[in-house]
Amino acid sequence: MDTQAIRFLLNGEPVEVTGLPTTTSLLSWLRTSQGLTGTKEGCAEGDCGACTVVVGELAEDGGLRLQSVNACIQFVPALDGKAVFTVEYLRRQMGGELHPVQQALVDCHGSQCGFCTPGFVMSLWELYNDCSASGDRPDDNRIRSALAGNLCRCTGYRPILEAGARMFDLPAVGLDGATLRAQLLALRRRDGLDYAHGGARFHAPRTLAELAALRSRHPEATVLAGCTDIGLWVNKQFRELDGLIYIGQVAELRQIDEADGMLSIGSGVSLSDAYAALCRHYPELAELWDRFASPPVRNAGTLGGNVANGSPIGDSMPVLIALGSRVVLHSARGRRTLSLEDFYLDYMKKDLAADEIVEAVEVPLRAPGLQVRTWKVSKRYDSDISAVCGAFALRIEDGRVREPRIAFGGMAATPRRAARTEAALDGRPWDEETLVHALLALELDYAPLTDMRASAGYRRRAAGGLLRRFFLETRPEVSLAAAQTRVFAAFDACTVTP
Ligand SMILES: Cc1cc2nc3c(=O)[nH]c(=O)nc-3n(C[C@H](O)[C@H](O)[C@H](O)COP(=O)(O)OP(=O)(O)OC[C@H]3O[C@@H](n4cnc5c(N)ncnc54)[C@H](O)[C@@H]3O)c2cc1C
Ligand code: FES
Ligand code: FES
Repeated sequence: MDTQAIRFLLNGEPVEVTGLPTTTSLLSWLRTSQGLTGTKEGCAEGDCGACTVVVGELAEDGGLRLQSVNACIQFVPALDGKAVFTVEYLRRQMGGELHPVQQALVDCHGSQCGFCTPGFVMSLWELYNDCSASGDRPDDNRIRSALAGNLCRCTGYRPILEAGARMFDLPAVGLDGATLRAQLLALRRRDGLDYAHGGARFHAPRTLAELAALRSRHPEATVLAGCTDIGLWVNKQFRELDGLIYIGQVAELRQIDEADGMLSIGSGVSLSDAYAALCRHYPELAELWDRFASPPVRNAGTLGGNVANGSPIGDSMPVLIALGSRVVLHSARGRRTLSLEDFYLDYMKKDLAADEIVEAVEVPLRAPGLQVRTWKVSKRYDSDISAVCGAFALRIEDGRVREPRIAFGGMAATPRRAARTEAALDGRPWDEETLVHALLALELDYAPLTDMRASAGYRRRAAGGLLRRFFLETRPEVSLAAAQTRVFAAFDACTVTP
């Protein structure tokens, strides 16, 4: 089978790769083919951060983006045209000396068994470069968030967080962005990558028209975006994916636009960028964003992938549905738009034809007076899967509820609106009596399951608790501030710097 070579930069040097199965993970290639064993394997599912590397890309505006990702859930062909940095790069950058990130970890005693350390180094290196470029000094919360995808089993967490602050006290070290940008420009393809190995194919088209044509020729192929769900199908379920169509190089899908009262987020936009845009209009989504997976997963994964995957416990859908969002589907036959709630037909079944792809998610811009909240209930604060995720949107006019939209994840086979609860609220005064009726209606709206994350009873009670919390924060009489209903107050008070 004819094939092109996959071309990218590895630690600043161009490499060309052929002869590799299409679903080979970057982690396995680094360790076995390149002997770069600094990058470690812990979980092979994006949870532990031992495999964290940094990937550089040219953004649509020509700017350079450096972002941490999990090498265990990235397929090598998806790196075509990008720059990969592993922990070994820091030695080269420093001419054999320790980088400030590494020196700070040494100074603060931030490594015990050391297994997790390269992953921490790379997450901190991303933060270091980002802050050096913008001249910012990160606060404790930003350091903590940057490390939310890195686990340390030796419980040396506090010294690691301290190192994240200390690295900025050491003599500064810059990255040669101009050279990197020129190298990436030189790698840019005019046409898409067509890579083949052992009967399997990996296409990376560069235009939407090319993508639609490929999809209609190969309806059996798997559409690949950030690989944060699909990577696990391969690593954990050993699924064989013979045909992959990667959407990450399609320029039209990487756009965020505002027009006709809608925020349109292309399906190739990362979760990090999508939530940043959403939070500019809906700052109430900030906590959900912070708690969605971890920075490396949000940097690689897409909002379109979350919506297209359509897991009943996915975190974006409840709030997108509550806001009245639409999904734009595209094929060589044309384009159609559906309200997001109508896209989900049954458990993991969507109204998506074999030749269609998700092109964009359209979110209405904020209407005056709209009250919005979304909360995720899970066992851990960071990097955990929801037991229940609730989202609420309504307006209050003359003390009465108008146009309530409520949706939950984790309560049914699909992300779903709470129709009876909404009916119990619509047009009623937003008071305790209406709340009691709405809570009774909520009991009838869902018949949740018991599974390893939560019992049915727990889910019901948690959903009711979220509705009550929404009432407490939005009722016209003596509404409570978010800080008064927030359960993570003790966490907020904990600081990194002594
Ligand atoms: C450690 C970890 C933590 C996670 N935490 C969370 C969490 O907190 N909340 C949460 O909701 N999810 C979580 N996830 C799941 C995952 O990150 C999200 O679902 C993510 O949005 C998937 O996007 P992706 O781009 O990586 O999709 P991919 O893995 O590339 O694809 C996922 C599915 O969508 C399809 N698809 C992707 N894009 C398109 C498109 N444009 N058109 C048609 N089909 C498409 C693919 O064919 C596949 O079926 C987590 C995953 C990991 C590994
Ligand atoms: S090995 Fe654990 S996140 Fe990759
Ligand atoms: S130092 Fe041992 S796992 Fe972190």
